[in-house]
Amino acid sequence: MRPIDVTILDVVSEAPQIKTLRLDRDLDPYPGQYAMLWIRGLDEVPMSFSGPDSITVQSVGEASEALTSLGIGESIGLRGPLGRGFTILGERILIIGGGVGVAPLAFLGEQAAEAGREVTSLLGYRCCSDMIFLERFQRLGRTVVTTDDGSSGICGRVSAGLEALDIDEYDQIYLCGPEMMMWDVISKIREQAEKIQACINRYFKCAAGICGSCCLDPEGIRVCVEGPVIRADRLLESEFGRYRRGPTGGKGPCRG
Ligand SMILES: Cc1cc2nc3c(=O)[nH]c(=O)nc-3n(C[C@H](O)[C@H](O)[C@H](O)COP(=O)(O)OP(=O)(O)OC[C@H]3O[C@@H](n4cnc5c(N)ncnc54)[C@H](O)[C@@H]3O)c2cc1C
Ligand code: FES
Repeated sequence: MRPIDVTILDVVSEAPQIKTLRLDRDLDPYPGQYAMLWIRGLDEVPMSFSGPDSITVQSVGEASEALTSLGIGESIGLRGPLGRGFTILGERILIIGGGVGVAPLAFLGEQAAEAGREVTSLLGYRCCSDMIFLERFQRLGRTVVTTDDGSSGICGRVSAGLEALDIDEYDQIYLCGPEMMMWDVISKIREQAEKIQACINRYFKCAAGICGSCCLDPEGIRVCVEGPVIRADRLLESEFGRYRRGPTGGKGPCRG
């Protein structure tokens, strides 16, 4: 698939280092699907949709920094929407997100609420200045917030907020965020793993299921085409939360 040319219509600063780019096309993605964004002359990187025509980027390195430096009227190449997104199931859903991982979940929550589902959100941030999309979630229903430094909501990691909720009440749980935060949540409620849909990250190159860069040991799940949303019971005995492969294919630690 060759990239199409998209132009940036608007740029919104959400938090230090995090910006939302609104594009000139509604590509009709499912929440949880992603696009490969080609910053010409530099790199092509995966980003989830945070709305039908938007992506939300945290600047962590060269490509994401270049994306967050783009202005209105500038253009990028885009392949997508790609991969398998979230499936809306059941009547009562719980969203659990951390950091910039809340971006695809805000999009999901809005579609689920529109479809008549009852939405509860548990959101974890490092501190109160990082609380992106809080109002989007609060408009959907009950929202519990945790911050690592205690500057807002419950003090602690997002799993500390699980105690404020009765997990058995929910038909389906949707999870996205830093890998160790997701692993912490999955480990704490592993008996519920079959009803957790987790949007996960691996190093993507082809994004077409061919190169093997994103495969998860030991099953070989190709995250770029079979995911990035994977049911958590398939992650329990995998490399997820233990190690991940980088650009060279070598194993490295999981972060976050
Ligand atoms: C399915 C998916 C959806 C994502 N959605 C978002 C999003 O909505 N918002 C957001 O800010 N980030 C998202 N990311 C992460 C984003 O792709 C990386 O932060 C970005 O590629 C970093 O590139 P860099 O050059 O800025 O940083 P680098 O310094 O190159 O890398 C920083 C980190 O990003 C990882 N990374 C770099 N290139 C890739 C790549 N091609 N594939 C996967 N990981 C990579 C590296 O392993 C490293 O851990 C997503 C990743 C995946 C796989
Ligand atoms: S990125 Fe090439 S197979 Fe997934």
